[in-house]
Amino acid sequence: MSTLEEKQNDNKQPEVEIDEVTNVKLIGGHEFDGIRELENPLPPWLKYLFYATIVFSAAYLILLFVFKDDSIIQDLEYQKEMAEARGELEKEAPEEGVEAVAVVRTEEDILASGEKTFTKICAVCHGKFGEGLVGPNFTDEYWIHGGSREDQYKIIINGVIEKGMISYKNQLSETQIQDVISYIHSLKGTNPPNPKAPEGEKYVPEEKPEAEKNTTENAVDA
Ligand code: HEC
Repeated sequence: MSTLEEKQNDNKQPEVEIDEVTNVKLIGGHEFDGIRELENPLPPWLKYLFYATIVFSAAYLILLFVFKDDSIIQDLEYQKEMAEARGELEKEAPEEGVEAVAVVRTEEDILASGEKTFTKICAVCHGKFGEGLVGPNFTDEYWIHGGSREDQYKIIINGVIEKGMISYKNQLSETQIQDVISYIHSLKGTNPPNPKAPEGEKYVPEEKPEAEKNTTENAVDA
């Protein structure tokens, strides 16, 4: 036998060797200071997960450096969204069947959204027209907890548990809360039938000319 053949045989033999203690195959040729390595393959799910990360990273690198995709590069994404917010970019055409999200919401949008929330949730206690029922009247100028948007925001977020109004923090989005507040404000002076008697203090808005329309009325009032 030549030395070359011997070597090949040597290499071949350990491949089928089985470890006595664990009954696991030993890897041929992996030996150092008498320590051998067992052949313990990774579980398939882990192996494929690993391959998947390689594929993902390749796709990511291509998008990042070749196509310079602005949904991956934060700076570009930011600039694009800022431009969109300023109305400099034309909104991409909405996909079929998907309603376009309005960037600029008109007064009507806000009030319509507020009315929806009000009718669905608040009307049972505050009256269909905000005239008051269990809860106070929203159409007069009197408020128990203050008449500013901040006051109402606090009430909606915290509720008035002891009087039966729960917190709507988790039920309503930030926008819905702001919209329903706008809607409540729009009810002022609407004189609905069967109004509940005023409760609380008369609210006179502070100087905020752009926010409230009928501040002049208050000024005339004696
Ligand atoms: C289960 C009945 C109930 C529901 C539903 C309810 N409220 Fe109330 N709400 C009350 C009561 C009762 C009060 C009076 C609390 C008090 O006397 O301190 C109140 C007070 C308020 C106040 C303060 C009024 C003031 O005079 O200062 C605001 C604002 C308000 N509610 C908004 C809402 C909004 C918005 C919704 C719907 C998202 C809503 N409420 C749903 C019962 C309810």
